[in-house]
Amino acid sequence: NINGWIGEDMRLYEGFWYRTNHALEGVMCVQEHFKARSDDILLISAPKSGTTWLKSLVFAIMKRACYTNSTHPLLTTNPHDCVPCLELKLFKRSPVADVDDLPSPRIFSTHIPYTSLPESILYSGCKIVYICRDPKDVLISLRYFLAKSKPSTELPPLSFEEVFELFTKGISSYGPIWDHVQGYHKASLECPHRFFFITYEEMKRHTLVNVKRLAEFLEQPFSMVEEREYAVEEIINLCSIDTLKKLEVNKSGLRNSYFPNDAFFRKGEIGDWRNHLTPQMAESIDQITNEKLPGIFD
Ligand code: A3P
Repeated sequence: NINGWIGEDMRLYEGFWYRTNHALEGVMCVQEHFKARSDDILLISAPKSGTTWLKSLVFAIMKRACYTNSTHPLLTTNPHDCVPCLELKLFKRSPVADVDDLPSPRIFSTHIPYTSLPESILYSGCKIVYICRDPKDVLISLRYFLAKSKPSTELPPLSFEEVFELFTKGISSYGPIWDHVQGYHKASLECPHRFFFITYEEMKRHTLVNVKRLAEFLEQPFSMVEEREYAVEEIINLCSIDTLKKLEVNKSGLRNSYFPNDAFFRKGEIGDWRNHLTPQMAESIDQITNEKLPGIFD
């Protein structure tokens, strides 16, 4: 065990780092109890890679026939309640039946690394969407996010230089981030009909085309009529960070008694690392990225 970025207890499990009393126990619960269905949709990411955005987009794509613009659940419900995180849901000891009773198709998110996915998920044939992000921006996003969390120990938070050292050694929540991405990237090359792999940067730069691709992958393609009526654009606007961060439900309240809901909506930009990392720091991270994930963030 070691102390993490904000003094929290962290442990290495199956090659990845977890916050204990929180994430790790949840992951173990999923491994032990979760029964995947073939029509489940799993949204997977390392933290701070665009999970909240992906949840909103997939939820809006899948539910578009059920709601009008003014009654849409995303206007009144936090995206993390629309698409629950598996390990948090199971760890909170809400009865497993709670998850089992949900109607199909169920949509969940998880941060579990590929090599720790339980057989139930691997062999279910369910669809998996994976989003990842330039590790330099993940580092900055995670740093800001943790700074907003309720301290779980008396220990002082680490300095930015110390955090940087840990991050490059792979010690971050569900890190090493490079191994996390690598696992799903490889799986998506081997099994493209089951895994949709996308970067935050690609989704941001070409949102329209990628939302359409995502809908096709989920077997809910947009019809000609929907395209003519700008259904894709409406979903993109609804799920934009500008729309979501202004909603009362995303501005107030705490999530899992650790994080304020507004901590999930910060800048939502590509390249904020430029405002925080020295050229040497950026180069050190890029070196690892180029070695382990060549071409993915070019
Ligand atoms: P920044 O801290 O760089 O702003 P996650 O959802 O995986 O926790 O990732 C959080 C990051 O995604 C934060 O990045 C946050 O601002 C950004 N984000 C949240 N909602 C978004 C949205 N609708 N569109 C784009 N980015 C979003």
